[in-house]
Amino acid sequence: MKGIILAGGTGSRLHPITLAVSKQLLPVGDKPMIYYPLSVLMLADVRDILIITTPADSEQFQQLLGDGSHLGLTLDYATQSRPRGIGEALLIGADFIGSDEVALALGDNIFHGNSFSELLQREIRNVEGCTLFGYPVHDPQRYGVGETDGDGRLLSIEEKPARPRSNRAITGLYFYDNEAVDIAKNLRPSARGEIEITDVNLAYLERGRARLVDLGRGFAWLDTGTPEALLQAGQYVRTLEERQGVRIACVEEVALRMGFITPEQCRRLGAGIAASGYGRYVMDMAEELGGAR
Ligand code: G1P
Repeated sequence: MKGIILAGGTGSRLHPITLAVSKQLLPVGDKPMIYYPLSVLMLADVRDILIITTPADSEQFQQLLGDGSHLGLTLDYATQSRPRGIGEALLIGADFIGSDEVALALGDNIFHGNSFSELLQREIRNVEGCTLFGYPVHDPQRYGVGETDGDGRLLSIEEKPARPRSNRAITGLYFYDNEAVDIAKNLRPSARGEIEITDVNLAYLERGRARLVDLGRGFAWLDTGTPEALLQAGQYVRTLEERQGVRIACVEEVALRMGFITPEQCRRLGAGIAASGYGRYVMDMAEELGGAR
C-alpha cells in the first residue's frame, strides 16, 4: 500500500496567513499541520509516501521531513502547479502508485480517536474497490456526503448537496485499489475545472465497490480551513494534550510505537529539538517505551 498526502492549494480562506506559507505547514497546537495526516498514514502502517505540494512550497516540506528515513519512512515529493482537484493527486502519483493500492490523505484533515490505528489497519487490509470514512456533522452541505445501506455499502455520494440525504460527511482519507488510477485518468474535469475526488468515488459506487466506514461521535474530525477552525483545532489538540500528558500526531512517537525506529533513534530525534516541550516529550517517550538512555 502506497500513501499520498495532498498538501497543495492556495489556502485562500486563510489569507494573508497563507500568502507566503503553505497552509499545511501552519501550526496546529505545537506541530505543523502535515504531522496529523502523516501520522494517520503511519498508524495505518503505510511507510512509502508521496507528498504533493505547490512548486513554491516543496522545498520547505523537504526541509521539514527530508527523505523520511529518520522516521523509518520513504518520502517522495511531487508538485501540483495549480489546484486542479483532489483527484489529480492520483494522476500526479500514477507512477509512484505503480500496481499498488493507495491511501490518499488530505494534508489539512485532522483525525483523532480511540483505537484509530486498529481501525485503519483493519480497513487497509480489506480494501475492495474504495473505502471511505464518514463522520457525522451538523453542516453536511459543506462536504461530500454519503448515504449507506445497513452493511456500509454506499448508495449515494453527493458533493456539497443543497439538500443532503444524510449527515455523514466524507472525510479526506480515501483507500483505493489500483483501479483508482485508471478511473482518474478517464475523468473529465468538472465545471470548476477540477478532477473531482467525488467522481472517482462515484465510479466505484457505480461498480458497487464503494464502502463507507463510520467514524462515530467518539472520534474527532476537525477542519482547519478558516482562522476560527484552525484556532479551534489547535485548542482541541492542546486541551487533550495538557489534560492527558500525551501528544496527538507526534510522528516520532508514532514511528517508535509502530516499530519503524528504535528507542535510541527516537531519543536522538528528541534531543535534536530539546529546547521545545515537543522535543522533550519525544525523549520522554523514547525512555518510557524503550528504556533508552
Ligand atoms: C473536499 C472534498 C469533499 C470532502 C472534503 C473533506 O472538499 O471534495 O468531498 O468532504 O474535501 O475535507 P473541499 O475541502 O475541497 O471543498
